[in-house]
Amino acid sequence: MNQSEFQSHTTADALRDAAKKLAQGALVAFPTETVYGLGVDATNSAAVARMYAVKGRPADHPVIVHVSSVQMISHWAIDIPDYATALARKYWPGPMTLILKRSDLVGDFITGGQDSVGLRVPDHSVAIALLAAFESIGGKGVAAPSANRFGHLSPTTAAAVGQELSDFLDAEDVILDGGSCDVGVESTIIDCTGEFPRVLRPGAISVAMIADATDIAIESIYTNYIGGSDDGLNNAAADDIRVSGSLENHYAPDARVLLDVVPTVGQGFIALASIDTPPGVIRLGSPVNDEEFARILYSSMRNADDQGLTEIVVAQPVRGGIALAIRDRLKRAAH
Ligand code: TXA
Ligand code: MG
Repeated sequence: MNQSEFQSHTTADALRDAAKKLAQGALVAFPTETVYGLGVDATNSAAVARMYAVKGRPADHPVIVHVSSVQMISHWAIDIPDYATALARKYWPGPMTLILKRSDLVGDFITGGQDSVGLRVPDHSVAIALLAAFESIGGKGVAAPSANRFGHLSPTTAAAVGQELSDFLDAEDVILDGGSCDVGVESTIIDCTGEFPRVLRPGAISVAMIADATDIAIESIYTNYIGGSDDGLNNAAADDIRVSGSLENHYAPDARVLLDVVPTVGQGFIALASIDTPPGVIRLGSPVNDEEFARILYSSMRNADDQGLTEIVVAQPVRGGIALAIRDRLKRAAH
């Protein structure tokens, strides 16, 4: 498959065809508001196995199931706590994944054998249309990891998906082009199998937003990610839960990533627009705020790789909210 074969016009016909392909067991990469996903029918174990092979991902890592609406989660999850329902109502469709107790529909091949399942309703018109079309022909949900090779940067454009995966995809597979992703970093993952929500991966939905939707005190919401906590939060270990994105070396470009040092001649540099570029340094990104920082981060690092740069310096944003997600990913990229 090459880039000219991308389905660049996501017409209703193209989406219907892509939904049919999913039902036949093919892989369909699709845009979401966070990053591009590599979708397969979440009930088809052979298709899921091929998706894992294309990604080069170990089989014991669970994958998120994407559905078009909150109603669809009743197929996948049981014993949903009230706080999870409150989160779903408030932030779906949106950049949030809920880990819930799994139903009988859920195969071990999407959970890595765990008794929970990750669910998300993405906020992107192409994703929602694809999921709805798939559901209209009997599909129950689309399992989709980020559409990159295991350990690499997540793709935020269809071209980046092609760079990552076209060597591994077959002729029947599809890459849907929905432009560049608005958020740019992966969804917030919230474990909802305990008494209180527990943040396993920070993203655009912050701990403050979780507290707001659930009326649960911030101090009761556990976090176990690296990169620090925004509000003096607990840092509970979650050794029993496998989150591949929580591996220390992940989300990495080919170039070496250096954090918060002064860049020197020949190095790439990503920093807020208010920070100047020293002479001889190759400016890769100048976002004006933290949201834009998240949006351009992965494409700027890819750009460095495309230019053959060997080192990227990033001046990290310092605040809470999405800046926390940015620092979490950068810490891993720099590992
Ligand atoms: O924004 C996103 O979440 C993107 C888009 C495509 O939706 N998806 C994404 O998927 O980032 P992936 O597979 O690259 O990362 C999902 C993370 C993995 O680290 C996985 O281990 C974790 O979610 N996960 C999935 N199901 C889980 C479960 N039942 N328990 C714990 N972690 C789970
Ligand atoms: Mg990923």
